[in-house]
Amino acid sequence: MKLLIALTLLLGMIYCRSASARVAVEDFDNIRLFTLTNKHGLTVKVTNYGAIITSIIMPDRDGQMADVALGYDRVEDYMNAVDKPYLGAIVGRYGNRIARGQFTIGETTYQLAVNNGPNHLHGGIIGFDKVAWDAQPLEGDGECGLQLSYLSQDGEEGYPGNLKVTVTYTLTDTNQLRVDYLATTDKPTHVNLTQHTYFNLKGEGKGDILDHHLTLNAKQFTPVDEGLIPTGELREVAGTPFDFTSAKPIGRDIGQDDQQLQFGGGYDHNFVLAGGDPQDGLPLAARVYEPGSGRVLTIHTSEPGVQFYCGNFLDGRLTGKAGRPYVHRGGFCLETQHYPNSPNQANFPSTLLQPGAEYRTTTTFSFSTD
Ligand code: BGC
Repeated sequence: MKLLIALTLLLGMIYCRSASARVAVEDFDNIRLFTLTNKHGLTVKVTNYGAIITSIIMPDRDGQMADVALGYDRVEDYMNAVDKPYLGAIVGRYGNRIARGQFTIGETTYQLAVNNGPNHLHGGIIGFDKVAWDAQPLEGDGECGLQLSYLSQDGEEGYPGNLKVTVTYTLTDTNQLRVDYLATTDKPTHVNLTQHTYFNLKGEGKGDILDHHLTLNAKQFTPVDEGLIPTGELREVAGTPFDFTSAKPIGRDIGQDDQQLQFGGGYDHNFVLAGGDPQDGLPLAARVYEPGSGRVLTIHTSEPGVQFYCGNFLDGRLTGKAGRPYVHRGGFCLETQHYPNSPNQANFPSTLLQPGAEYRTTTTFSFSTD
């Protein structure tokens, strides 16, 4: 287990220069837990185990706070959970699936760890979600954050090249959580990093998310085979259950007799983002509105795709922070990314990273009410 158990215990609070935004640090069963708080009391907790977001506490339209991120109280639960569904984690070196765990760069075919039927999923057996990252709290004006670094060794899970990865979480006083990804390599390799938080805007453990209204800035999606590997087609969403171009409850069409929904057990598909006018430099990916609480999550990204996964594999066996079970579809993920199996699909945007180049992507999660 590539886990550094003996991490320094940091005591006390580290305050940012900003009057209000601050980072608190505490021990989390030998792994550190960092609490980012902004001037409105919005808090985001992050552990350096798996760079996992363990909690996001935000108000509803009446100011009632709730934790909208699925997770556990104890780091052991992240390590030992049934099926390890990547709650809150940074996923890599390659988020999503690579067919048969193989790709070819130049003359060389690489065999990656296979951990999802015949395929490679989310970086393999010990992906970036299951390692200890170095963590450095950051200070800023009106924002605070955490910079997490990890060196993925040449050959790890079968990937070529030493990959240096930095993920920076920044919480702003404008109620935005920004995630900046940076990676460099010493050999050509494939990289596709993403954030795997499961959200329930009613509050974690409060039933399913089928009544959340979702808008996706996507006119196409990438249909898959039975193993959830894209066929290579970019299919129009118009006239299908995959049309979220205007807000619609996640559950409205999920029961339709549709082969793609059968393959995914519901929505578990990559959507092709349409781009458009950027806000703060980034185009819109998704907006989710929960009518009961009025909570809104808006996501912008520099990535070309987003995997919309609506928790089809949750089945009530996992218990969350408030002691409530995570029921079927008890959370949704919107994983900004390049498309699945890109190393083997010449028509998809490339995930190849060359030595001397920088992998840089940014995704923002904005929290508001309506
Ligand atoms: C995948 C799902 C998978 C889940 C947890 C998602 O990103 O698309 O198929 O079950 O992660 O592993």
